[in-house]
Amino acid sequence: MKIGIDKIGFYTPNMYVETENLAKARHIDPGKFTIGIGQEKMAVTPITQDAVSLAANAALEILTAEDKKAIDYVIFATESGIDHSKAASIYIHELLDLEPNVRSIEVKQACYSATAGIQIAKGHIALNPESKVLILGADISRYGLETSGEVTQGAGAVAMVVSADPKIMTIESPSVYQTEDVMDFWRPLHSDTAFVQGKYSVDQYIKFFQNLYYAHHDKTNIGLSDLDAILFHLPYTKMGMKALKSVVEEANEADRERLLANFDISKRYNAIVGNIYTGSLYLSLISLLELNTTIEAGSRIGLFSYGSGAVGEFFTGILQPNYREALYKEKHDNMLDNRTEVSVEAYEKTFQDTIPSGTENIELPIEQDPATICFAGIKDHMRQYVNKNN
Ligand code: HMG
Repeated sequence: MKIGIDKIGFYTPNMYVETENLAKARHIDPGKFTIGIGQEKMAVTPITQDAVSLAANAALEILTAEDKKAIDYVIFATESGIDHSKAASIYIHELLDLEPNVRSIEVKQACYSATAGIQIAKGHIALNPESKVLILGADISRYGLETSGEVTQGAGAVAMVVSADPKIMTIESPSVYQTEDVMDFWRPLHSDTAFVQGKYSVDQYIKFFQNLYYAHHDKTNIGLSDLDAILFHLPYTKMGMKALKSVVEEANEADRERLLANFDISKRYNAIVGNIYTGSLYLSLISLLELNTTIEAGSRIGLFSYGSGAVGEFFTGILQPNYREALYKEKHDNMLDNRTEVSVEAYEKTFQDTIPSGTENIELPIEQDPATICFAGIKDHMRQYVNKNN
């Protein structure tokens, strides 16, 4: 049975800051951010968006009434969870009006967890071929003002429907995966910003990629010449490029050129949104699928998923006939074109505009946020969401 991605969409908040301006404000040469790090714009999240509302907005655009009837599993992948107990997917279930007979869970392992969601979905569909699984990868990346990670922040969500006979890409078996206890990046329960050992995290990422790429090659005999593109988790776009370069040196010229050119297409959305953690690899997939003009159905794509801590996985997918018809390019173009640029001062103010821990009641200005689904506040310690369409 063919199982894979049937639908895929994303959402990012309506504001961004130019990294060039951020560099100037930090007395850094802008080339470091735009070329050295490879990021052009960084999404800025209003107080009226959180992981739940970002994910709900991403899912809203891709689900039809027929999908909603068939979805019997919602997997919410995040490291920006809003509750220690209740799964974020339950809020999605309510906001999107899904059927009652649905299994809803939240999964966590840094930026890797949406991939875990896909593999869980694959097993579920193998046992239940009629079912569809909704996977959400949503995060707000926060390192803090004036930190070295600041330029690698971002926010957004990817929503995917995984099913049998998918319209976009089948997920092939086997995949290879790896776990190692590594303190490269983490966020203790008391902190709303990440702790990171930046250079160490870069080394770990490359080490995981090389281990997994070669292990996958040994297991499947799939090599660079069999892949039309290799996609990466992109904490910042230069990171994926560094990892790719570490294996394409051994490739022939045609393979090297193809993989580098397709990587260039796959990083475009990420370069103007920033790190969206769990959804990042899949944002890169959307970028490649929506922006390439030459990749044919039947092409094989390699995907490297990495979540600090650390877990990694390398796997492949095959693009399906007419995959382009299942994409939402126009919607995404509109969303990205209609964002508002904000100054560094406005970004700093928004960054610091957080709800104090323990707040019992608060109403938030959702009329200032053009998103359809917003985080509207807290009532008796319960988070409130509004779908403006309802
Ligand atoms: P840094 O140490 O300030 O930067 O922060 P740097 O000094 O390494 O410079 C970066 C690059 O800019 C270098 O190029 C410089 O040469 C270049 P490279 O050597 O890397 O090729 N550069 C310039 N280029 C052009 N013009 C100039 C110029 N000046 C310098 N004028 C660091 C970099 C990544 C450490 C920092 O941003 C950070 O800590 N980021 C957060 C951590 C991170 O993203 N790690 C990535 C791997 S871990 C991961 O992917 C998981 C994660 O997503 C979390 C999760 O799983 O949940 C993070």
